[in-house]
Amino acid sequence: MTQASAPGKIILFGEHAVVYGRPAIAVPLPSIRATVEVDASPPTEQDGILVQAPALSKTFMLEEISPQDPLGFAIRLTLETLQITRPPNLRIKIESEIPISAGLGSGAAVTVAIIRSLCRHFGRTLSDEKISELAYEVERLYHGTPSGVDNSVVTFEKPIYFRRGHPVERFSIAERFTLVLAHSGESTPTAEVVHSVRDAWQANRADYERKFDAIGRIVDLAYGALKRGDVALLGPLMDQNQMHLEALGVSCHALDTLIKRARAAGAAGAKLSGGGRGGFMLALVGDDQIEDVTATLQAEGASPVLHTTIR
Ligand code: MEV
Repeated sequence: MTQASAPGKIILFGEHAVVYGRPAIAVPLPSIRATVEVDASPPTEQDGILVQAPALSKTFMLEEISPQDPLGFAIRLTLETLQITRPPNLRIKIESEIPISAGLGSGAAVTVAIIRSLCRHFGRTLSDEKISELAYEVERLYHGTPSGVDNSVVTFEKPIYFRRGHPVERFSIAERFTLVLAHSGESTPTAEVVHSVRDAWQANRADYERKFDAIGRIVDLAYGALKRGDVALLGPLMDQNQMHLEALGVSCHALDTLIKRARAAGAAGAKLSGGGRGGFMLALVGDDQIEDVTATLQAEGASPVLHTTIR
């Protein structure tokens, strides 16, 4: 049996604008992971590749699943890349602790874990760049016009400054900080939110380009602050980024409320993370505020509410 896993991720700054060529900053969430096991099937089982994904309530034979199914597509694409034209009978088990459609990169993590586990099973290696490139192809099935930020951060498992069409910059965060992460209870598929931003951009390009530029400037300031260890600047930058995300129409009442409550409970800044219209929000907190901010967000109905140290 071979096994591989990949982390969830959070986008600290720059979601949505990154689809339009502006930069974004994302970090891995090493403690929340997707794990894939690959086994040779026992001879008593049906011939072919059996895929079991209990967290997604899915069990299927690869040979029978639609070419558009992202799990099936990831497996086929990996076998094709490894030039395994007649694969042996296999059982592929996919498990994930990462909430789905929540902005934490569950799709990208599952894909990267599938690719790595199959490589291990066949004793082969692919570079991180190649794995990220394959995962990008699968991301296109999940959300149409992805920027590539999710597959990059999940593959490299390092903080990244990402800009479409440029080499991925991995960097070190100079000073650790803590985020409280709270799920709003609502969720919208990333593809849907990305499409609605595209419709709005097509209807009013000049205005949206200005908004994306403003987000890009915030990302660059945040990049400098993270590399210098200027944690004090991050909170106000998160608030400004959130203001622009609201103007893009990707926030929602539930997220707005959690963000306001977190700030009132002492967070230094707060914003949504990922596709938006539900999913997770982030609040920057000092060690003394973790408990208060967590309790406030729980009282507001957020679930789950987690905290993580970014370093
Ligand atoms: C999704 O995690 C982030 C978005 O910017 C989409 C993308 O970058 O592909 C909303």
